[in-house]
Amino acid sequence: MDKLVIEGGVRLAGEVDISGAKNAALPVLCAAILSAEPLELANVPRLRDVATTEKLLGQMGASVADRGDGSVVIDCAQLARLEAPYELVRTMRASILVLGPMLARHGRARVSLPGGCAIGQRPVDLHIKGLQALGAEISIEHGYIEARAPRLRGARIFMDIVSVTGTENLMMAAVLAQGRTVIENAAREPEVAELAHCLNAMGARVSGAGESEIVIDGVDRLHRAQWRIMPDRIEAGTFLAAAAATRGEVLVRGANPAHLSAVLDKLREAGARIDTGADSIHLLMPERARAVSVRTAPYPGFATDMQAQLMALDCVAEGTATIVETIFENRFMHALEMKRMGAQIEIDGNTAIVQGVPALDGAAVMATDLRASASLIIAALAARGETVIDRIYHLDRGYEAIERKLSGLGARIRRAA
Ligand code: EPZ
Repeated sequence: MDKLVIEGGVRLAGEVDISGAKNAALPVLCAAILSAEPLELANVPRLRDVATTEKLLGQMGASVADRGDGSVVIDCAQLARLEAPYELVRTMRASILVLGPMLARHGRARVSLPGGCAIGQRPVDLHIKGLQALGAEISIEHGYIEARAPRLRGARIFMDIVSVTGTENLMMAAVLAQGRTVIENAAREPEVAELAHCLNAMGARVSGAGESEIVIDGVDRLHRAQWRIMPDRIEAGTFLAAAAATRGEVLVRGANPAHLSAVLDKLREAGARIDTGADSIHLLMPERARAVSVRTAPYPGFATDMQAQLMALDCVAEGTATIVETIFENRFMHALEMKRMGAQIEIDGNTAIVQGVPALDGAAVMATDLRASASLIIAALAARGETVIDRIYHLDRGYEAIERKLSGLGARIRRAA
């Protein structure tokens, strides 16, 4: 069942609960490798990428008890296989996040190189360079990262490029290293800070996460801990963009507005009326959106993971918008599909010029990556007639029960073979 059939023209209305954040759950699951005692998690989203990570940990010898209600207990006391094989890593590049923890706790690791993906080359050279700075000996053999380090030693690491999982991998490696590690030009995403808070609950000594300089003082071991995964800000932003594109009114529950400042700012610029609570965001779109331009940037800038969703809104907005994608080199594939629905988009390198049209026309389109899938749903909701989105297995990687949640907001959406 990997198609979605959507009948457009419905104004979304109602309330929707946000699930746990995929990009916090994945590094936190891998952090369990660092401890000989169980890590008990709550609010873990039910996503394909989470299932893949749990499968990877299980193959390594961890016991993973996923109770199916968002609570997962991982026990890595006895890891028999310090390897992340190609057949798993190629389906989810975030598997690279087992490298740092494996090396820190067990002194060796064999992790397949992730390879490229639809949105870009996505090298892991900064992960490797940082681990070498911590004293790891690393070679690349037959597509695998072979790493060894009897004991990692703290170091000062400057990240040439702001990298989310690069920062997370090195932070996890450093928590068991000897001495102090300073990561400069670190990623500031809330998911990075979330990982640090979870590591500290496990007994680590990490400070400054969420800022561009993170200090980690190594400890000998970590201990059991409980942790509740933060809400998914990108899922929240996706529902807000969908409501704006359909001139609807939604209350997004469980989202932290402080993690979406750049996105809320753009939606207000587009004409949305937004009120926020401690963990909720209310959006009303009284009339057709005004086109808004954006340039993606590392946090707290406008998230690249929201670029495709904003483009969908701009496609049906009044006016012309310029969208510049500065993080990944090939993250406009959704534009080609939207043009099949009548969108007026011109691509020039990492810049897209979007001329809003009064309405898109439903069509058969194909999802190419996770956030592209979400943007095609938004376009379909705002279009006239029926849209069929193929290859939505991309969507299932990062959105929990999206058609149930959208149906709850009035959308006419169903899954089909
Ligand atoms: C994380 O990917 C997210 N994934 C991505 O979300 C997100 O788009 C991205 O950060 C940017 O915010 C997870 O957290 C699991 P990067 P990551 O390392 O860490 C270059 C989604 O939709 N780079 O921050 O892989 C890289 O090519 C996914 O949920 C190097 O050159 O991204 C890119 O241009 C998609 N060398 C830039 O840095 C390296 O060693 C930022 O990438 C590492 C990265």
